[in-house]
Amino acid sequence: MAQKLFSCTACIAIMAFCCTLAAAAEIDTKKFPFYPSLLTTDTGKPVTPDKFESAQICAGCHPDIHAQWKGSMHSNAFVDPVFQALWKMGEKDTKGFTKNLCGGCHTVVGVVSGDLTFKDNQFVTSEIAREGVQCDVCHTIKDSSFLETPTYEPNNASLIVAPGNVKRGPYKDSVSPYHKSEYSELHTKSKFCANCHQVFHPVSNFHIERTYDEWKYSVYAQNDIQCQDCHMMPVEKSIEVAKTMKKPQNPGQPCTMGPKRDNMFTHEFVGANFTVPALLGAKGHADMAEKRLKSAAELDIAAPQAAKPGSMVTLGIKVSNVAAGHNLPTSLTEVRQMWLDVKVTDAGGKQVFRSGDLDEKGDLKEEARVFNAYAVDKDGHHTVKPWEIVRFEYVKTIPPKGSATETFSFLTPPDAKLPLDVRVVLRYRSYPQSVANVLLGKDAPVLPIVDMVEKSVKIGL
Ligand code: HEC
Ligand code: HEC
Ligand code: HEC
Ligand code: HEC
Ligand code: HEC
Repeated sequence: MAQKLFSCTACIAIMAFCCTLAAAAEIDTKKFPFYPSLLTTDTGKPVTPDKFESAQICAGCHPDIHAQWKGSMHSNAFVDPVFQALWKMGEKDTKGFTKNLCGGCHTVVGVVSGDLTFKDNQFVTSEIAREGVQCDVCHTIKDSSFLETPTYEPNNASLIVAPGNVKRGPYKDSVSPYHKSEYSELHTKSKFCANCHQVFHPVSNFHIERTYDEWKYSVYAQNDIQCQDCHMMPVEKSIEVAKTMKKPQNPGQPCTMGPKRDNMFTHEFVGANFTVPALLGAKGHADMAEKRLKSAAELDIAAPQAAKPGSMVTLGIKVSNVAAGHNLPTSLTEVRQMWLDVKVTDAGGKQVFRSGDLDEKGDLKEEARVFNAYAVDKDGHHTVKPWEIVRFEYVKTIPPKGSATETFSFLTPPDAKLPLDVRVVLRYRSYPQSVANVLLGKDAPVLPIVDMVEKSVKIGL
């Protein structure tokens, strides 16, 4: 599918910006001083960046956790080149509206310290703010303000951070010589992640990304399987979780000078992004993401047993979401691509049918069966710029433990040699090649693709 990135004119952007300002007035900016981000501090006032501690300091006593976090998409959240490219585009298109909006989740420290500026086409901030979603950001979160947001739902960083010596976490009996420890139930629940893993349009409140919602109404939520149970666990353990619906157990020692614990949560935060970690040299994280993707789905092929040369054949291909605690794919569904690659060859090796191959530019052809969402702007034109998205034309993703069936029909050539070999691969990549080319310019790599699962059958044996 040809993805059009530039679908708006400058004048639409300015109009969007003006109505944005009008709506901004309706938000209580005392409650949300960093609007359009819904982030705030416990005092409601900006803090200096030195209120936060660098991950480097935590590494001294929590070396394993630091090593897991380093290279994660949380540690990349500010420096991520794909994010940076779209953010800059937003800043120019909207004349300054996206700085805090996007920054609120991608660099909490930059936003609450007010130390984030856009000059010479660069976002400039403090060294610690460049650490992205880092230790102290998460562990000084005191509460969520979701009940005060326009939708009463967690979104757009609806979090209250209280940077300082109190570190909040899952233990009720934790003692540290360096900092105060405080038990926080919030940290053990999906509701914690939800505040950043739901992106709503700040003016229309349209749900652009809604991973938490997808989870909340799923069988996982019903069984008390939280985001943490899959994304803060080694991949093998989370595969077990999805199979058994039982909470994982992962003994470990969170601090070199602390006790051994029956259960400890790891900090790789691996999802599906294997592209950016690899670009930024975090091969370990890229490999883990690939493994997670390969665990997520199963394929079934329904095909007729007999086929006659010269007759029509219809295949039913069922894709099941077996291991993702939310829709598959989730989150940036307007950008991600998961699709069926179907190839039918006859006994002589001659191709009879193909769907899901790439064109000469590396993009999917129009007829490919892609699982994603198709976002449009106010004129109904396709767009992947979050600030322009007004609605989805369609959403085709697979719910947790659910499935979707695609049918493919083709004519068997009269001279085909039986049996036919049907080979189906479910493939995933982070972005369409054309979008990567626009965002990364001449640095854009040929995008890697992960084969999540494959299956084949023979017809007409
Ligand atoms: C509510 C928090 C939140 C806000 C606000 C937010 N993001 Fe994100 N962003 C995320 C999360 C979470 C992900 C990871 C989701 C995923 O990978 O599927 C993400 C991922 C991305 C990615 C994909 C990066 C990659 O490497 O593939 C891009 C690009 C991006 N965001 C751009 C933006 C821009 C531009 C804005 C502002 C218009 C923005 N984001 C606002 C939370 C947010
Ligand atoms: C001088 C060593 C030391 C340093 C430096 C240190 N910690 Fe700790 N931390 C500990 C010890 C000891 C524990 C207790 C471990 C346990 O209870 O299993 C702990 C526990 C924690 C907990 C669990 C709290 C709870 O109640 O669940 C969190 C969260 C935490 N640290 C975060 C951090 C962060 C963030 C930093 C960096 C800003 C940091 N720590 C720096 C020693 C340290
Ligand atoms: C995205 C938010 C986030 C980031 C970033 C993060 N943590 Fe955590 N951390 C958590 C959550 C959530 C838990 C509790 C999980 C649970 O119990 O369900 C946790 C648990 C812990 C614990 C208790 C032991 C354990 O692993 O269960 C320690 C100690 C800790 N984190 C330290 C750190 C340090 C040090 C860093 C930076 C290197 C860090 N965290 C970065 C969210 C985060
Ligand atoms: C302060 C905001 C914030 C919080 C809190 C947060 N995240 Fe994230 N998370 C992000 C952002 C931003 C990204 C994407 C960075 C990028 O792609 O550039 C991200 C990325 C991720 C990814 C990688 C996505 C991919 O495509 O591979 C996973 C998995 C993830 N987060 C899980 C969690 C879980 C689980 C929690 C709760 C324990 C959590 N996050 C809490 C902001 C947050
Ligand atoms: C049962 C295990 C499980 C649970 C629970 C779960 N996830 Fe996932 N998650 C996965 C798997 C498997 C993938 C890889 C397939 C995919 O992209 O959906 C994934 C992928 C992701 C991604 C990357 C999506 C992309 O394509 O860029 C994000 C972000 C994410 N999860 C966040 C969350 C959040 C937030 C929660 C809680 C609300 C959560 N997950 C709950 C298993 C889980």
